[in-house]
Amino acid sequence: MACMITSAGGALQGEAAVPGDKSLSHRALILGAIAEGETTIRNLNDGEDVGRTIAALGQFGVAVEQLGDVDWRVTGSPWTSPAEPIDCGNSATTARLLIGAVAGMEGVVATFTGDPSLRTRPMEQLAVPLARMGAALEPANRLPLTVTGARPGGIVQRNDPPSAQVKSAILFAALGSNSPVEIVEPIPSRDHSEILLAQMGCAISVDWSGGGHTIRLGQQRRLAGSEIAIGGDPSAAAFPLLAGAIVPGSAVRVAGMNVSSLRTGFLDELERMGARVEITNERTESGETVADVAIGAARLAPCMVPADRVPSMIDEIPALAVACAFADGTSVIEGLGELRHKESDRLSAIAAGLNACGVMALADGDALRIRGRGRVPGDSTVMARGDHRIAMAFLVLGLAAEGPVTIDDGTMIATSFPGFAMAMRGIGADIR
Ligand code: S3P
Repeated sequence: MACMITSAGGALQGEAAVPGDKSLSHRALILGAIAEGETTIRNLNDGEDVGRTIAALGQFGVAVEQLGDVDWRVTGSPWTSPAEPIDCGNSATTARLLIGAVAGMEGVVATFTGDPSLRTRPMEQLAVPLARMGAALEPANRLPLTVTGARPGGIVQRNDPPSAQVKSAILFAALGSNSPVEIVEPIPSRDHSEILLAQMGCAISVDWSGGGHTIRLGQQRRLAGSEIAIGGDPSAAAFPLLAGAIVPGSAVRVAGMNVSSLRTGFLDELERMGARVEITNERTESGETVADVAIGAARLAPCMVPADRVPSMIDEIPALAVACAFADGTSVIEGLGELRHKESDRLSAIAAGLNACGVMALADGDALRIRGRGRVPGDSTVMARGDHRIAMAFLVLGLAAEGPVTIDDGTMIATSFPGFAMAMRGIGADIR
């Protein structure tokens, strides 16, 4: 256990360093391991979750080498069945994406397990379509789970509730044949897999008409090794940007952040609430939009977030809830049922944490209601429940609260953002 504490210490200024995007990092490694030839990856996320994917690929017999601090090379090759179970630790993305990849590999059998939190997380939404494509998954609902790959059959799948992990697992499985595959998403989820597959030479089309996405795979599914540059993780950047918005007088920047419209829901919401947001130097890297983001503190108005906006900020709800606590008035965020199945029951963790800090907040069915009063008492201890994003959100709350905030354990922050404390201290935060 490593308890951590933050207190208000004046305005925050400067640039916060954030790691490469975690979602893209998992995908670049896995698709590089399936591709023909070498894939080099720049700015890979340095957290423990991505480390689990690297270790797993080694167990499948794929060569993954570190070239520099955050630069890696993967040499694609046929995967072999690992002798030992794959331990995915706390990382659902490692488990779900790799289960998908193996499901489409005839002759490969692997058992996946994880830490106590991951072993409680649901797998049915993924297992059902993969079984329809021909893979055997036993059991189908929880880890530890053994998957026996097969030559995949075709599928038409509705991705609802929207899950980028489920969508990616189906797409990765489908690389094992050229049977027809169509995925319909009434509400789009992050599309990093689609973009990366196209970058690596796979025939894939996305129809955006009508608000949702329809994704179809063509016949050409052989992937070519590539050079992939990964932009900064918007889900890690959310914490210094939140601090910049709520600590009076602050001006905080994050350079080179992925600003895909399917990931910027939190930033868009902060701007709607009144924070001063500036996006400059927009460019394309490996098919993704990357830019420099600056934020300035302001008095915040409350927000009303309908369910269809939630997928674009699914991992940022703890950060948004903290912003709502500092707003003047009652905020409502709807459609948060999926939050009950993240690294913790985030809906209940957020409400309990805010209550502990003196803020009226209620998890009401799938909605979160937060009564902001422009100020937060703090002077409290919050249970992070082994969840990195709960830990980081409440540590940032402590930077703007009237009294210090302690979290019981910050060790899990290393799963996604090992440099969090250093990055926050770099912009002037009092974090111990
Ligand atoms: C992720 C998708 C989201 C997100 C998770 C990462 C991904 O999960 O919460 O942290 O990399 O595809 P769901 O697919 O379950 O929505």
